This record gives sequence, structure tokens and C-alpha cells, in this order.
Amino acid sequence: MAGWWRALPRAAQRYPWPTNVLLYAALFSGGDALQQRLQGGRADWRQTRCVATVAVAFHANFNYVWLRLLERALPGRAPRAVLAKVLCDQTLGAPVAVSAFYAGMSILQGKDDIFLDLKQKFWNTYKSGLMYWPFVQLTNFSFVPVHWRTAYTGLCGFLWATFLCFSQQNGDGTLKSAFTFLRRKASAAERPPEK
Ligand SMILES: *[C@@H]1O[C@H](CO)[C@@H](O)[C@H](O)[C@H]1NC(C)=O
Repeated sequence: MAGWWRALPRAAQRYPWPTNVLLYAALFSGGDALQQRLQGGRADWRQTRCVATVAVAFHANFNYVWLRLLERALPGRAPRAVLAKVLCDQTLGAPVAVSAFYAGMSILQGKDDIFLDLKQKFWNTYKSGLMYWPFVQLTNFSFVPVHWRTAYTGLCGFLWATFLCFSQQNGDGTLKSAFTFLRRKASAAERPPEK
């Protein structure tokens, strides 16, 4: 276990691109599998394959290039540089990533109007991201010890991927729709099954 934790950052350093692709594939397919599990019913592997395809084809590469660009433009970990990076990421990177997810999924699922989900859910999802990512990034840099940051970022990315997949399949992109769903789920689990 301990070896694994050290092997991952080392692999990421030596083979940044393949590690990135694997990481994104794992985060998104894991997120989709989790939200499907929570929804109950049979696992839809076709759906998970679509999610993984979008993550590998687009998000892994986009983030790889985008984060490097940001780091080159605004280097360092000084509060000002971090704040500027968070701001750029939220105004430029996030909308692109959210749009690509909805449109990419619609294309892979062969929907008639590939922009419908995007039109209906983009603003909600973008606003949810605005409530989530700056908070994650700032806590990352202010409170999380350096050696836990990779794991923390991975966990937060996983939760976000789970939320995105839920929004795409059943939610409307608001955090509220996800929490309402979870609450209903929890209260259903407390109540004994009806006869
Ligand atoms: C957290 O900090 C590390 C650097 O210590 C950085 O590589 C990573 O991208 C940050 N994660 C987030 C979500 O800001």
C-alpha cells in the first residue's frame, strides 16, 4: 500500500501523459459506476464505456495541456499566483470541460440533438462547479499537507466525476438534485421495506 502511494507520483513524474490518461479513465468510470450503484438497477456498462471514452479522448488530454499552460503563464504557489490560476481555470477551463462532457456523451450515445443536454444543464453544472472547485483548490493549497495533495485532488475529482455522471443521466446539474437524491436514498434505507 505504502509503496503504491509512492509509486504513483513517481510514475506521474516519469510518464506524465499515460498516467494522466489512466487516472482520468479510472476517476470517470469509477464515478459512473458509483452513481449507477447508488441509483440501483442493473449496471449499464455501455454507459460506463461512453464515460471512460469521453474522459480518455478529451478530459485527460485537455487537462494535461491546460494545467501546463496555466502553470507556465502563472508559475508558483504564492497566494496571488494560486488565486489567478483558480480564476482562469474557473472562467476558461471549466466551461470547456463541462461542455465537452455533455456534448461528447450525447454524440457517443447517438442522441438526436447533441446540444440538448448541454443547453439544459450547462449553467446549473457550471454554477455547481463554481461552488465546489475554488473551495477544493483553496483548501488544497492552504490546509492539505503536500504529500496528501495528490490523493486529495484525486478524491475530489472522483466526487466531481460521480456528480457529473449523475447529472448527465438523471440530475439537472444542480447540487440540489444530487443531495435530494441522496437524501431520498438514505431515508429509503432507514425505512423497512414495505410488505
Ligand atoms: C493541489 O496541490 C497540488 C500541488 O501541491 C497540485 O498539483 C494539485 O493540482 C492541486 N489540486 C487542486 C484540485 O487544486
